Amino acid sequence: MERILVTSALTYANGPLHIGHVAGSYLNADIFVRYCKLKGKDVIYIGGTDDHGAPISIKAEEEGISPQELVARYNKSMKEDLKKLSIELDNFSSTSTSEHNKLSQDFFLNLMDAGYINQKTSKQFYDKKHKRFLPDRYIEGICPYCKSPEARGDQCDSCGKLIDAVNLIEPRSKISGETPVIKETTHWYLNLPKFEPELRKWLETKKYWKDNVRNFILSWLDEGLIERAITRDIDWGVPVPLENAKGKVLYVWFDAPIGYISSTKEWAKRQGKPDLWKEYWLNPETKLIHFLGKDNIPFHTIIWPAVLSKQKDKYVLPYDVPANEFLNLEGQKMSTSRSWTVWVEDYLKYFEGELLRYVLAANAPETKDSDFTWKDFQNKINNDLNNVLGNLANRTFIFAKKYFDGKIEEELELSESSQMALRICKDTLSDVENSFNTYQVRKAVKSIIDIARSGNKYFDETKPWKEIKTNKQKANETLYVCAELLNAISIALYPILPDKMLELRKMMNLSGKFCWKDIWDLQRRFIIGEVSPLFKKIEDAEIEKQLELLKATRKGKEKMEHKSEITFDDFEKLEMRIGKILEAENIPKSKKLLKLKVDIGGEERSVVAGISESYEPKELIGKKVAMLINLNPRKVMGVESQAMILAAEDEGELVILVPEKDIKEGSEIS
Ligand code: 2FM
Ligand code: ZN
Repeated sequence: MERILVTSALTYANGPLHIGHVAGSYLNADIFVRYCKLKGKDVIYIGGTDDHGAPISIKAEEEGISPQELVARYNKSMKEDLKKLSIELDNFSSTSTSEHNKLSQDFFLNLMDAGYINQKTSKQFYDKKHKRFLPDRYIEGICPYCKSPEARGDQCDSCGKLIDAVNLIEPRSKISGETPVIKETTHWYLNLPKFEPELRKWLETKKYWKDNVRNFILSWLDEGLIERAITRDIDWGVPVPLENAKGKVLYVWFDAPIGYISSTKEWAKRQGKPDLWKEYWLNPETKLIHFLGKDNIPFHTIIWPAVLSKQKDKYVLPYDVPANEFLNLEGQKMSTSRSWTVWVEDYLKYFEGELLRYVLAANAPETKDSDFTWKDFQNKINNDLNNVLGNLANRTFIFAKKYFDGKIEEELELSESSQMALRICKDTLSDVENSFNTYQVRKAVKSIIDIARSGNKYFDETKPWKEIKTNKQKANETLYVCAELLNAISIALYPILPDKMLELRKMMNLSGKFCWKDIWDLQRRFIIGEVSPLFKKIEDAEIEKQLELLKATRKGKEKMEHKSEITFDDFEKLEMRIGKILEAENIPKSKKLLKLKVDIGGEERSVVAGISESYEPKELIGKKVAMLINLNPRKVMGVESQAMILAAEDEGELVILVPEKDIKEGSEIS
């Protein structure tokens, strides 16, 4: 039998679970696992918390508690939140167990024996005030690649590139905020260039991987692999198992994926069969599938397989790495430090866990970043689940109860339209299978809801409420076909809404054991039992409340980002004057841009301004505004912009700056 080992990226135990985690690596894995189980496959689902690394020790220091206390707290809370979202891992472990320490040290020593680790002295940032080295997230600065101001010492979240901290622009210590000095230290490096030919060959066999993942790796390989330090100068982590490495620990990204194996070992022990883990990890037939967010791609597709391949035991290498892109929130990048997220525990105070599963699945960031908005949450629940699926179930059941005492007879002689309704369902189910097999959950959800949608259409067209008066059997036929559709939907949607679909099956007196082969069996009668609405509508007020909560928490947390200082001479280089807007019009095909003609004091300039979401062209004409007029001219959507209108922004709303009293156009601003 096919054996599948599914993992979700181990979550840093430095905070509770939020919807970004769920959409990035948990829900997609849980859905896939449930689908595999429906198909009768041998699958286990493994995960846990990533307990080491700078984010944990930084947070523990901030709270004045030990890292161990911190990770225990979040491991527990994540486990509880996952359960409430019906995300059912076979084992949820952590990387601060002694079993994990031992295994990680063995991994390191095996690589060393195989000749893939070099010891080197290098320069690293050092915080003089706190007398300590500043690895990874202890340092922040501007990304040398994309210039994002929030890059960290190990990676930039904006462009996803791994960074060598000494290349950061304007580095600053996360502990003291000061500019660090550079000091020498000794570390152990993984010789990645030595793996390159083998890795390339192995990746050649992965043509079936998702495009976003393959493109990411290929561009990484094309830039050339470099040696990477896999040890750090901090005191929280797995100690480097060498005499001459006192006080050093393994880099969190070295030990984290090994956590998948230690978690599987823990699972095997819990089963009372301590060697059972080997039947997955050491079995070449196992399909090892890592679910994760795109920032984790290089670690799982390059470093991790390299490390795995040089162990004494012959481990299976990743079969697939279906990475997701990022989930944004209300149009903005999610950020826990700015409290721009939805914590699962907060969500659960207001709504059922399964509703979140549905919305995140229907909007999964599979091929590109997607956006979670509360309005869309409401629309999807109210439309897809209430108006479409809930309605089909409700009308079928109520009708059956009212006119047939709940008994729906099987029909062998079906009309053309009934046959057609069943055929559409059957064809769609094979698309659904294909979508689940290729991790395309959004597509699967859409197809399943389409089955319900076509069921409603069929119900409307066959008009059982009319037929019942003259031809009772015809009315039964409609109910029979709709019941078949509902049976199929209950199984196909089980990976996404397991508890709701169980409720649905209970109402139809169908088995609570979910199995794909029961999806199509046109040989039965249905007895409808006690029924109640599966879903309830979400009111506008409930959504407004969530939006208010989101804004309120952010306001409390928002920290102003400052740019670096400039000199007065720099400031004097800016030529700012008052301009009078003479003409304003929309730029065709542009959502935000307006084309303006502005008089800056006897001279006219054409200006492209991104303010059309805040202003109508006609309300701008005649206005006097503050302008920067010596910026390089640039062409925007074919129009040359020869100056810039100054505006302030508040949550996406732009407000142009106008002089407090009337003043002549051309007046200089200083
Ligand atoms: O990016 C992260 O959140 C990491 N904690 C993921 C680790 S995945 C695996 F290697 F354990
Ligand atoms: Zn970057």
